[in-house]
Amino acid sequence: MPIDVDANPIRQARTLPLRQVLPAILRDPVGAVLEIGRESGGDVVRVNLGPFRPYLITHPDHLQHVLRGNSVNYRRDGVLWKPLHRLFGESVMSDGPAWEQSRKVLQPVFTAKNVETLADRMAEAVGEGIGELAPPAESGLPIDVSAAMARIVNRVVMRIFFGDKIDMADAERLAPAFDAVGTSVIFRYLLPFVPYRVPLPGDRAFRNALRTIDEVVVPLVDRHRDRPDDGDDIVSVLCRAGDAGGGPSARWVRDNLVAMLATATETTAGALTWLWPLLGAHPEVAARLRQEIGLVVGNGPVRPAHLADLPYTKQVVQELLRLFPVGWLFPRMVVEPEPLGGVLLKKGETIVVSPFITHRMEAFWERPEEFDPGRFSGRRSTGRHRYAYFPFGGGPHQCLGMHVFMLEAQLIIAGILSRYEILSCSPEVATPQMGASLRPRQRVEITLRPIRRT
Ligand code: HEM
Repeated sequence: MPIDVDANPIRQARTLPLRQVLPAILRDPVGAVLEIGRESGGDVVRVNLGPFRPYLITHPDHLQHVLRGNSVNYRRDGVLWKPLHRLFGESVMSDGPAWEQSRKVLQPVFTAKNVETLADRMAEAVGEGIGELAPPAESGLPIDVSAAMARIVNRVVMRIFFGDKIDMADAERLAPAFDAVGTSVIFRYLLPFVPYRVPLPGDRAFRNALRTIDEVVVPLVDRHRDRPDDGDDIVSVLCRAGDAGGGPSARWVRDNLVAMLATATETTAGALTWLWPLLGAHPEVAARLRQEIGLVVGNGPVRPAHLADLPYTKQVVQELLRLFPVGWLFPRMVVEPEPLGGVLLKKGETIVVSPFITHRMEAFWERPEEFDPGRFSGRRSTGRHRYAYFPFGGGPHQCLGMHVFMLEAQLIIAGILSRYEILSCSPEVATPQMGASLRPRQRVEITLRPIRRT
């Protein structure tokens, strides 16, 4: 039933008490955040974490209001953005004028139309990346899925979006550095009121990772900023972006390059890592997927033109992002006081929105814990609230890479399953580890066998 975003009368938000929240978060952070969502029942609630008491927004009507309807009142700012500001600075991952300018410059690279023009080159790079799985598959050796997905994605992203201006050796140094950033900020997230002069676990790993990232990105900026070429890759586009007053500053280019490297690779590789344990635990889904891909792609290679005939593959990707939306939680700061769902949100307060929580609430999804790609078929999707499913966020900050991800993910899945049979995957049920993005706690391994077609 639709609810009144601005419901009256104004009341105090229900607060989930510290004595209940803290032990649960320490014991099982993933279970605890899902339980908080369930307890909220879609109401705006306050989570008591001691000195820090963010509001949790889970109802699709409220999400639509915060992310789109009145998004100017909910800025990317406040204590939970601070750890990431050290990484992204003033870029497309910030807010205000620097964000606006960055988004304007980068957007043309990522429109559905432009991504379509890049699709054939992407398919080629995906094919080459998948070819590297042949030696372990031939010898029946287990493959570290997270590393393998990162290698395939890096190859695609570096070639298509970075114009091969970062070589594979540097790209391979960046992957673990972004990984370390993602996991090391968790204490700063959980204890945002602790000042930076007080060291927390993860701080040193974060600094080391930042150093590695800058060792790759800063020389890249120096090489290209004064002499940008006319390429349509991200480095060229950023370096050519002049304000009225002259060329872009080295800092602005660096911040945006880091933002784009972080969002373009880690997210995609992370999301695809979750697929294999899900397929291992749901052989019926794996069989249907393999059948669809076998019929349409045959001996391959996969071409973008095949994708229109792979509707189930797309549904699998959509359902994958429902259960494991890698951008699992994103905060905002309230700019001006405003009532939402009957609760007065005060200026400067932090609110958090989480696709991970909303996607798994019984209030909005039937059997939310079940992996059921069919729920994204046309028939079963009708009537669904736009903001019951928002793995890519929404409104002005909606993910720039949405079309890239959907294309890349389908090409990679169809590419792998047209060439290889999955013999095993362990573990069968991977559990999330909390970090800036949602990644499996366990190392995920698969064993593949080449499909020999006559
Ligand atoms: C599984 C894949 C991905 C997921 C789940 C995802 C999720 C998200 C989410 C939730 C946001 C909104 C954050 C907010 O509102 O604060 C976002 C923003 C963004 N994403 Fe993605 N993303 C993915 C892949 C990508 C890729 C492949 C790229 C680039 C090629 C990308 C680039 C960006 C950028 C630049 C933004 C910032 C947009 C802005 O604020 O204007 N993402 N993403």
